[in-house]
Amino acid sequence: MPLVFRGGPLRGEVRVAGDKSISHRALMLAALAPGTSRVEQPNRGADVMATRDAIVALGAVVDDRDTTIDVRGGALHDPAGPLDARNSGTTARLMMGLCAGHGLNAVFDGDASLRRRPMERVARPLRAMGADVNTTGGRLPSSVRGIVEPLGGEFQLEVASAQVKSAILLANLQARGPVIVTGDRFSRDHTERMLRRFGRDISFDGRTIALLPGSISAQTVRVPADLSGAAFFITAAAITPDSDVLLREVGVNRTRTGFIDVLQAMGADIALLDERELDGEPVADIRVRYRPLRATNVDGETVVRAIDEVTIIAVAAAHAEGTTRIRDAADLRGKESDRLTTITATLRACGVEVAEHPDGLDITGGTAHVPGRTLHAFDDHRIAMAVAALAAPLGDHGIDDGACIDISFPGFAELWSGTQRA
Ligand code: S3P
Repeated sequence: MPLVFRGGPLRGEVRVAGDKSISHRALMLAALAPGTSRVEQPNRGADVMATRDAIVALGAVVDDRDTTIDVRGGALHDPAGPLDARNSGTTARLMMGLCAGHGLNAVFDGDASLRRRPMERVARPLRAMGADVNTTGGRLPSSVRGIVEPLGGEFQLEVASAQVKSAILLANLQARGPVIVTGDRFSRDHTERMLRRFGRDISFDGRTIALLPGSISAQTVRVPADLSGAAFFITAAAITPDSDVLLREVGVNRTRTGFIDVLQAMGADIALLDERELDGEPVADIRVRYRPLRATNVDGETVVRAIDEVTIIAVAAAHAEGTTRIRDAADLRGKESDRLTTITATLRACGVEVAEHPDGLDITGGTAHVPGRTLHAFDDHRIAMAVAALAAPLGDHGIDDGACIDISFPGFAELWSGTQRA
């Protein structure tokens, strides 16, 4: 389905889709917790629906009423067939961990894109705790034969990945002793916060996580709006003259706000208003107004804290004065697409000077123009939405296929055009 995005400022108020990462975790813990949990305002994208369907296949009883999902959990069993994570890395990797530590036997599979993504990073620590895990050359399909009572102990992360960390924690919820995870570098801590919300004794400081033995009980969780979805609105407003948008109830967890830090360092006018807590997660309303941007450098832990926003940072850089250097971002090559390559192709098609490096990009701003052809979405929701932001200051242009946006943000195109009419 081709999609055209309009040029012009963004104005008005929106609540973007619910946070995808938090929705996955709420559903998984709800499936494990005895009793009925409620997830309010969940993300309704295809990835989270893959998790919903996977917990149903494992025996959770789900009553999905769109804006709330009730889950009766605590009595899981082996699924009758393979669990299909579709396009969702979070579903595959976290559910592998969940099964590994709860005595569940399951085969995992996914679509062509997910079948290309690395799974050994999760399989290795799960094997180390005694589960029997097989991958297909390091990828899906994979199989897990779980154990019931892991010993616990120490795990060193080989990559600062929230998905790997979360798989280890979910696999060790029934551990007999304490579980320590080291080597984190401020990857998103939603699993840790959700475990605390469900009653577990857990400490975490961005580097080390310590989980004590215990149990979980059913909860009600309201999901904040997704900063990663808001990022497209924030960036488009920041680079398009006359823009002024207010984004409501957005998650502003420090492990996710690297992108706001970067845009503010570029000079963007972004204000976090009414900062507060929502069921264990920090949220704020975010107001953004246009102001000219200048180039910056992005690397190290900031990249981890902005792992899903590097493509949209690249769009901001295309409209900033000077050359922005992004480094330490090699993990982007293993996302839904090779995002360093796909955003480079997207920006070059708009006349932007981009040098691609093994772990990053140099982007020289100021030369962007409307592309002479429809852009390719590379079947990657974040590339498709980045094109919408890129069009706002330039003029109307589009993508060949907008269906992939439903992975994380159904209704995006309507909400977007609403802010351009306001
Ligand atoms: C996610 C973690 C990140 C991120 C992904 C969602 C999560 O992946 O890119 O979109 O919900 O845990 P990594 O942990 O592999 O960096």
